[in-house]
Amino acid sequence: MRIDVLTLFPEIFHSYLGQSVLKKAIERGLVEIHLHNIRDWSHDKKHHKVDDRPFGGGPGMVLMAPPVVECVEAVQAMADQPGHLVMLTPQGRKLNQAIVEELAQYPRLLLLCGRYEGFDERIRLILKPDEISIGDYVLNGGEVAAMVVIDAVIRLVPGVLGDEESSRQDSFSGPERLLDHAQYTRPRCYRGYEVPAVLLSGNHRAIERWRLMDRRRRTEERRRDLLDSTTPRSGESTQDEK
Ligand code: ADE
Repeated sequence: MRIDVLTLFPEIFHSYLGQSVLKKAIERGLVEIHLHNIRDWSHDKKHHKVDDRPFGGGPGMVLMAPPVVECVEAVQAMADQPGHLVMLTPQGRKLNQAIVEELAQYPRLLLLCGRYEGFDERIRLILKPDEISIGDYVLNGGEVAAMVVIDAVIRLVPGVLGDEESSRQDSFSGPERLLDHAQYTRPRCYRGYEVPAVLLSGNHRAIERWRLMDRRRRTEERRRDLLDSTTPRSGESTQDEK
């Protein structure tokens, strides 16, 4: 999978790219990440300005359409396929595991990060990006959100996690989209808390049953909304369709 990040602050990504899972995925040729500085497409050759005050007044600065649109178009042309364009913005559809799975299907993603008070509306009208928010709060820019998207998506690229099972068993994965079950490692007893006996039994079917029960119980206790959710999940049929 190829991911192109379009940002005013490519350096924010540098230490993240050295993080172990991602670094190995890049070294093994499973993931390619390319960083592009939107400022390189500024029409202002002297100060490389890419933002300006909003028409109609108001606080802050707005990202101008020409450098952003031209940067996206130039980056799209850098590979044989334009890729799926994602704009990181608090106004987008809220990211969840189903959307992560959807994004992981694309062989190429372009992640467009904003700063300042937002994007000139013509960027949306011209580029028609898939707008994604990572939650109902406002960040200083899309960079952290883009890292969240990259981190969640690359886990699903075949071969990136050593053990293929481990992403399938994550919270929100699997047919029921439940939270993950409790995990234990040595020691068997710590400050009076024992590891549940079933996990030491060697009975794999009993362990699987216990884990599924624990996932359901935890989801019920912590995230009832996940059980109540009637939103169809990607790749699954709704009750009505069955
Ligand atoms: N940019 C600023 N806030 C954001 C958010 N919540 N999600 C995605 N991009 C953002």
